Amino acid sequence: MHFGNTIIRLSDTSSTNNYVASLAKAGKLVSGTVIMAENQTEGRGQMHRSWDSERGKNLTFSLFLENVSLSVTNQFILSKIMNLGVIKYLSSVGLEGKIKWPNDILVNGQKICGMLIENQVMGSTIQQSIVGIGLNINQISFRGFAATSMKNELGKELDLNKVLDSLLFYLNQAYDYYRAVPDPLTSDYLDVLSGYRTEMSYEDDQGQFRGIILGIAESGHLRVERRGEICEYSMGEIRWLG
Ligand code: BTN
Repeated sequence: MHFGNTIIRLSDTSSTNNYVASLAKAGKLVSGTVIMAENQTEGRGQMHRSWDSERGKNLTFSLFLENVSLSVTNQFILSKIMNLGVIKYLSSVGLEGKIKWPNDILVNGQKICGMLIENQVMGSTIQQSIVGIGLNINQISFRGFAATSMKNELGKELDLNKVLDSLLFYLNQAYDYYRAVPDPLTSDYLDVLSGYRTEMSYEDDQGQFRGIILGIAESGHLRVERRGEICEYSMGEIRWLG
């Protein structure tokens, strides 16, 4: 499989993840296909949030994957691989990316990339995955939250198609490498995970606390030491306060 074997460019769509899902349902997509949009009218983020991006300024695309040979219990593997692919790409242009669990990517403490991975499961196996990626490229101001873009970080405008080509190269490389040699995947992920083995402030449904990320469970849950006790959190159960 090669990510980006087919690239479909749309001017407007509700969400590239939705678009891929409907074509996949109709059996009309080859694994590896990328669908990107200049503008999404209902871009979606994690936790039912929306994903806003100025028209034509950023990369908003989805990658369709079939038969990834992963069980549902191992679904976080794909997330780790994709995160590391983005981090490698950023590093190739001189930017140091950090992961904010589970799969936000930060540069200088500000979010530059978000990912929404949606899987179609049959029994206990993942049949199809839609990897939606929003990477901020040329947008310079963001309302409401601490975000940045490659332009803000590098001080220059970038060509979206060239960024996509190069990013797909690193995503392919990460995928081929870690599928063949899975052992270093978790430690490579932890190496760039913000807060790993460092005391930081968090908040859960019982309030704020100081905690230390000890690792990631196979399920993708975050393992945090909290006053000597080890707690596991799924997405949305813990908030990072910095
Ligand atoms: C997040 O950080 O909350 C995830 C954001 C994911 C955004 C991308 S943009 C392309 C794809 N289509 C969507 O509707 N969402 C993802």
